[in-house]
Parts: sequence; C-alpha cells; structure tokens
Amino acid sequence: MKFKVFDSYDEISAYSAELLAEVVKSKEDAVLGLATGSSPVGMYKELIKLNKDGKLDFSKTKSINLDEYIGLEGTHDQSYRYFMNTNLFDHINIDKKNTFIPDGTVEDLLDGAKKYDELIESLGGIDVQVLGIGPNGHIGFNEPADELKMNTHVAELTEETIKANARFFASEKDVPTEAVTMGVGPIMKAKKIILIASGANKAWAIKSLVDDVITTKIPATLLKLHPDVTVVLDKEAAGML
Ligand code: F6R
Repeated sequence: MKFKVFDSYDEISAYSAELLAEVVKSKEDAVLGLATGSSPVGMYKELIKLNKDGKLDFSKTKSINLDEYIGLEGTHDQSYRYFMNTNLFDHINIDKKNTFIPDGTVEDLLDGAKKYDELIESLGGIDVQVLGIGPNGHIGFNEPADELKMNTHVAELTEETIKANARFFASEKDVPTEAVTMGVGPIMKAKKIILIASGANKAWAIKSLVDDVITTKIPATLLKLHPDVTVVLDKEAAGML
C-alpha cells in the first residue's frame, strides 16, 4: 500500500485525477469504479477540466458506482445518481448508458443486488476503484461488523455513518437508514485502488491501514491484502501515522 501525503485538498484531487487519467488513457473502454461523498469531488472537477481541454476522452469509458441510498429516486438531489450526474457525468463526454449505479427504488432489492453483481461480472470487473473511507473505516457502505459480504447487498447504515452524512440533508432524520452497496468482493478484485481521505476525522481510520491488524470491524483493513492500493491523503488525515 502506497501513501501519498499532500498539503491541500487541491493537491490530493490533482494527484488522484492523474492516477485515474492514466487508466483511462491506457484502456479506452476502462471500467471505473466510482464513489460519491466529499472526498472525490475535487478529483471529478480535475477530470472535467482534462476532458474539456481535450486531454482525456471518456467516450468509451464505463463506470460502476459503489452504492446508492434505498428509497431515493435518481432525481432526488441527495441520491448518488444525482450526485454523479451533477458532479461528473453531465460535464464529460461519457455515454450515460455506460454509467451504472445501484437502483435503490426497485421493489425486489435482492434481485436488483444479484443483477448488479452480474453486471459487474459482465463488464469484466473493475480496472480502477475509487474509494473514500468512513470515519469508522467503512468502504462503500460495507460497515464495521462481525462479517462482511462479498456481493452486492442491502446494508443498514450505522449511527456514525448517518451522523456523518447528515450534513448533506436538511436534518439527521432525513438520512436514509439503508443503502444498496457493492460488497467487498469486486472492490478487492479491482486491478487498482485509489483511496482518498482528507480531514482529521479520517485519521483514526487511516491509522488502521498501517496497523498490523486486518478485521471486519474496520472494513478498510482488508485493503492491506490488495496488491495495488494508493492512499491519497492530507496531513490531517495522516495525523496519527
Ligand atoms: C460513497 C461511499 C462512502 C464514502 C465515505 C466517505 O459512495 O461509498 O464509503 O466514500 O463515507 O465519505 P466522504 O468522502 O463524504 O467523507
């Protein structure tokens, strides 16, 4: 696992965009595993810039997102579909038909989850997976637990995650309590992983990545078993290293 520590969020974003751009350039139909949340927003802005400047072409690129809240339509301004459209897809030359996000509104969520795994399989897996990290060490919405799931599933969000995400909603009670998330299987099978973390509230979770323990109680610790992970972070997130 490589750690790259920067002074500012802008530098984190530029560096992460460079890593992702390398993959897009090296394979025209690359499959990008994407995340929402505040961590990758700056990187998405950089990618938009590269695309607008004609330096990066997404016309054949495919993307598959980690997760989606249950019960929110794609038009809801806090849904992850809306987030991806407004923060990236609407501004680059990707074909929206090639962008995939779990659907948290289907009646049969189990069937939806199974189909999402089949979709990942049919895309041939993920070339590069972008991850944020929860203050509790979650990746995607794979929350700390006695067991982790390989496959896409319905996850109940922990109180800590609901609190952390309340900043995006009118109030804490508006935060959905469940989400559909990719399991740890496809994440760990991604060829390359870029994990972005900024701020002191991530310091504890980041420290767990260097400690000599792998535990489902801190899901991100599984990443220690992956051969190609780059953790891109600021000094605050690196504060306990
Ligand atoms: C988002 C996701 C989450 C976030 C994590 C960090 O798709 O799967 O695991 O990456 O909660 O969120 P931010 O970046 O908002 O601190």
